[in-house]
Amino acid sequence: CGIVGMIGNTGAKEVLLKGLEKLEYRGYDSAGLALMHENVNVHKEVGRIAALREIIPAELDGTIGIGHTRWATHGVPSVPNAHPHQSTTGRFTLVHNGVIENDELIKKTLDVPFLSETDTEVIVQLMEKHFVELGDVEAAFRKTLSDLHGSYAIAMIDSEDKERLYIGKNKSPLLVGLGDGTFNVVASDAMAMLQVTDQYLELHDGEIVILTRESATIKTLDGEVLERAPYTAEIDASDIEKGTYAHYMLKEMDEQPAVIRNIIQHYQNENGDIELTEGVRELVSEADRVYIVACGTSYHAGLVGKQLIERVAGVPTEVHVASEFGYNMPLLTEKPLFLFISQSGETADSRAVLVEVKKLGHKALTLTNVAGSTLSREANETMLLHAGPEIAVASTKAYTAQIAVLAILAYDIARANGKKLPFDLMQELALVATTMDSIMAQKEIFEELADKFLKESRNAFFLGRGLDSYVGLEGALKLKEISYIQAEGYPGGELKHGPIALIEDGTPVITLVSQPNTHLNIRGNIKEVVARGAVACTISMEGMEHENDAFVLPRVEPLLTPLVTVLPLQLISYYAALARDCDVDKPRNLAKSVTVE
Ligand code: G6P
Repeated sequence: CGIVGMIGNTGAKEVLLKGLEKLEYRGYDSAGLALMHENVNVHKEVGRIAALREIIPAELDGTIGIGHTRWATHGVPSVPNAHPHQSTTGRFTLVHNGVIENDELIKKTLDVPFLSETDTEVIVQLMEKHFVELGDVEAAFRKTLSDLHGSYAIAMIDSEDKERLYIGKNKSPLLVGLGDGTFNVVASDAMAMLQVTDQYLELHDGEIVILTRESATIKTLDGEVLERAPYTAEIDASDIEKGTYAHYMLKEMDEQPAVIRNIIQHYQNENGDIELTEGVRELVSEADRVYIVACGTSYHAGLVGKQLIERVAGVPTEVHVASEFGYNMPLLTEKPLFLFISQSGETADSRAVLVEVKKLGHKALTLTNVAGSTLSREANETMLLHAGPEIAVASTKAYTAQIAVLAILAYDIARANGKKLPFDLMQELALVATTMDSIMAQKEIFEELADKFLKESRNAFFLGRGLDSYVGLEGALKLKEISYIQAEGYPGGELKHGPIALIEDGTPVITLVSQPNTHLNIRGNIKEVVARGAVACTISMEGMEHENDAFVLPRVEPLLTPLVTVLPLQLISYYAALARDCDVDKPRNLAKSVTVE
């Protein structure tokens, strides 16, 4: 979910709606807005911000407001479950992102009717109860937050006070945006506020903020005032517009060659050598084993990262899905290095592992696209992806950026350990960028392949061996996410041990053939599925191609093939989703940044 808030003199409605539109990547199954001028007016609607816009009367505006876009956790997407929620008397109105774990216990202590199934309504009712007891809004707000277990980013309006907005944060992301002295704003991320300011105040867990038009006072839950200097946002408002592109996903796929060049520039010194910060160097040189922790697409980049770190640097590496790691922790070595990979830097599953790891006294390095994100702040060191904001829910440029940065990291560890480096990485990455350019210049081929193989298909397989099998997993995930075609990524040799039972006449099987040591084996696997009725769509690399292959990629260094083999799979998924009339940038049930566990 995403939240916004504003206190100003006029025009809160438009600022908040625009802010919510920028936060839609965090969830978009329902949305709501509370605006206060004389009274508090609440409007909520199921669906996108566009739907909310339609039901808000044109003449309505406010000087204070809060808004929310939801990704359902407690209760189905519906108007009653949408935020903002109000206390029974209507005195307090509140929006919340996060999950309260003790909501049922608190609910039992509250003798009021509940209109929704959400944990958020419990917060606002508890607030009113504490206010009745204490007679002071700020004290009641601090007490309320102290009673909560779990994660929250909260903004609250008091209908009796036109001078203050109450903000609170624990584990869920939240930032204050400082205005020109006549207004202030707050939101789940900076992108939602770039339209009005580039000055931000970072907030930490367990802090509240009393926001007025002229000031932002940060306090602890005990009421102690904290001083903090603002910082200037690095992203530009134009970075988050899609310009002439039909979809953010298409724009972001197209940006991949530029992102690789950007990464080369950021991680090399004047002599063309890889240069990482001393902090990162120290961390990695101490490690006897690397534990990669990530979710979704970032996890798939981690699988490639393991191969890079093991083969280039010779350091044993494990890859774990974050939501499993905490409950299923493997045996750790003496000097483990935890490597968190996260585009957003906000994924709650990964963050939960980071908290555990720190409790155990271990060191962590975060690879993220977002400077200042939670995972970046809380890890010992950060390596940035330099990919620019990624807005489409299905991740593309962050995946390739993650792999490129992992390769750089692998090289640095290898050098620290005195290993012989297998090739000139920066030169090979530059070649990768050129190859990416040439693939992106031939999009129509992938549009045709999507039409031919996937438009009418119920399911699809993605095969490969070694690195190709990991990219196959990512290809299958992309297709599932945006076209809703059931897709399986599988190691070519393993298919015959079960899933081959699913192959029938016409099942599309998309296979990658880019690995010199297995290309003959995978050709055998393609024959096995074709013999059972599958239609083969094979994407191979120069030197390993066959006559009937659907596309032949220019040759790149075998360890770096995922950076290019993934592009055809991204494009095929994109065009399959278009052909099936799916909402490419905002697929159903998903959110880009999942800030609940
Ligand atoms: C969500 C997104 C995925 C993403 C995953 C991890 O589920 O829908 O596209 O890969 O989170 O996100 P992160 O920001 O941690 O890379």
